[in-house]
Amino acid sequence: MHSPHMILKSTSVSLLFVFAISGLLRPGFAHAVGQDREPNKATLVVRVDQAGPVINKNIYGQFAEHLGRLIYEGLWVGEDSPIPNTRGLRNDVVAALKELHVPVLRWPGGCFADEYHWRDGIGPRDKRPRRPNASWGGVDTNAFGTHEFLDLCEMLGAEPYINGNVGSGTPQEMMEWIEYMTSDSDSTLAQLRRQNGRDKPWKVPYFAVGNESWGCGGEMRPEYYADEYRRYATFIKNYSGNHVQKLAVGSHDDYYEWTEVLMSRAARHMNGLSLHYYTLPTSDWSRKGSAIQFGDKEWHATLARTLRMEEFIEKHSAIMDKYDPQKRVGLMVDEWGTWYDREPGRDMGALYQQNTLRDAVVAGINLNIFNRHADRVQMANIAQMVNVLQAMILTDKEKMVLTPTYYVFKMYKVHQGATLVPVDLTAPEYKVDQASVPALSASASRDKEGRLHLSIVNLDPNSSAEISTRVSGATIKSVTGEVLTASRMNAMNTFENPNTIKPTSFTGYKLQGSQLTLSIPAKSVVGLELR
Ligand code: AHR
Repeated sequence: MHSPHMILKSTSVSLLFVFAISGLLRPGFAHAVGQDREPNKATLVVRVDQAGPVINKNIYGQFAEHLGRLIYEGLWVGEDSPIPNTRGLRNDVVAALKELHVPVLRWPGGCFADEYHWRDGIGPRDKRPRRPNASWGGVDTNAFGTHEFLDLCEMLGAEPYINGNVGSGTPQEMMEWIEYMTSDSDSTLAQLRRQNGRDKPWKVPYFAVGNESWGCGGEMRPEYYADEYRRYATFIKNYSGNHVQKLAVGSHDDYYEWTEVLMSRAARHMNGLSLHYYTLPTSDWSRKGSAIQFGDKEWHATLARTLRMEEFIEKHSAIMDKYDPQKRVGLMVDEWGTWYDREPGRDMGALYQQNTLRDAVVAGINLNIFNRHADRVQMANIAQMVNVLQAMILTDKEKMVLTPTYYVFKMYKVHQGATLVPVDLTAPEYKVDQASVPALSASASRDKEGRLHLSIVNLDPNSSAEISTRVSGATIKSVTGEVLTASRMNAMNTFENPNTIKPTSFTGYKLQGSQLTLSIPAKSVVGLELR
C-alpha cells in the first residue's frame, strides 16, 4: 500500500518524467508561456507603386559539396542500391528538391573544390580512382562526378554552378573541364564526353575560380589572388554557344579589404564576386553552440548574428558601387546558413546538424535581406543541400525528413524572378538583457501574373505581432497564406516524428476595405498572397 506521502512523491516524480520526455524541461520551453503576452504593435506599408528590381531566382540557390553524407547517401546511392533511385540518384530526395524549384546548384565545394581533379570523376565508375577527401575526411570513390552532377541538375531543372580548382589545379585543367562539358565540336575532349555517355554538350552558365582563396583555397593575399583570378579567368572559354559567367572568390564577413582589392584590380574580368557568412549562436568557432539545446539568450544571439548579413551586404556593396556603379558585377552569397557544434557521437568532418524552428527563422530573415538587396545580390547558395549544416533534407539510410528550412524555401519560392516591392516596416524591438533586434522582418514581390507576395518573420519567441498593413498602389480583395511555427523554439522533424513542424494555413488577418490587419504568431515565418 502507498502512503499519501508516497503517492504525492511518485506523482511528482512521474510528472517530472513526463515533462522531461516531452521536452518541456528543455531550454526551449519558456516561450509557450510568453504567448499570452500583449501582441507587439507594428505598421507595414507595401509600396506596390514603387516596384524595384527583379529578384534573381538564383537567390534561392543551393550548394552541394563532397562532405559528410551529402553527396554519398544524401543524393547518390548508386544504381544497385535497394534505395529507389534513378541512375543512382535517390528518388525521394530528388522529388522533394524538385518541389523547391532549385534554380542553381553549386558543386563540388567549398574547400573540396580546390583539391578536386575532374578527370577522377569521369569514365567507368569501377575504374575511377579513390582519393582521400583531404578537407573533410574519408575516401572519395569518385562515383559521383561531372556526368552525375549534371544529370542531377537536369533532373532538378537547376542551372549548374561549377566551382573550379585554383588551389591545387592549373588553368589548363580548368579550361579543359569547360571544353569537356560544353563543346559540341569533334575535339578529343568532346569525343571523350560522348564515349562516356553524353552526346549533347551541357550548358554551364556559372564557373568560379577557386573557393575561399584567403583560407582553405590557398591562404592567398588579395593582391596575389586578384592576379591569379585574372590569369585563370582568361582561360574560361565559351564553346558552342555556351556562355559562362565568371565568378571570383570574394570576402567573408567584414573582410572589406579583400573586396576593395578584388574590385579595384579585377572587376572588369568578372561577372560575380562571392561573399561567405555563417551564423553561429556564439561568434566563437571553437564553441559555436548547440543545434537543438538552447534558450532565449541563444535564440536572440543567433538572430542578432544572422541579421549582420544585411550590414555585410550593404558595406561590400558600397565598395562594389565605387568600381561598378552600374551594378554589373553580382554579389554572390554562395555560402550562408547556420553552423553549430558537432552532435555528440557524430563524425568531426561530417558537419551534420539538426534543424529547428530557429533555423527556419534564420532562413526567412536572410531570404528577406537578399530579396531587399536584389539590386546587387544576384545569387545565394545556402550551405548545404542535404545532411550538411543548414540542410533542406536529412537522411538516414532509406529514411528522409524535410527540415523547417526546407519549408521556408518552399514558402519563399514565389519570389523567384518576381519584381521586388519595397516595404516600410516599423517594428518594435525584441530584447534579451541589453541586446535588442527588430522583432519583425519582411520582404515583398509582385510576380508576372500580378500577384503580390509578402513574407514576414516574427523573431520574438514570446509575443505575437499585430501589424497594421497598407498596400499603396493596389487594391487588395483577398488574402491567403501559410504559417510555419510551433510551440517550442527547438521544434524539429526527426526520423521518428517527421511531421512535427510543417506549414499550416494562415488565418490571422482582417481585411476591412483598404485596412489589412495581420496577426503574426510569435516565432513564426508567414507567407501571404495578396490579390
Ligand atoms: O560549407 C562548409 C565549408 O565552409 C566550405 O567547404 C568552405 O568553403 C567554408 O569554409
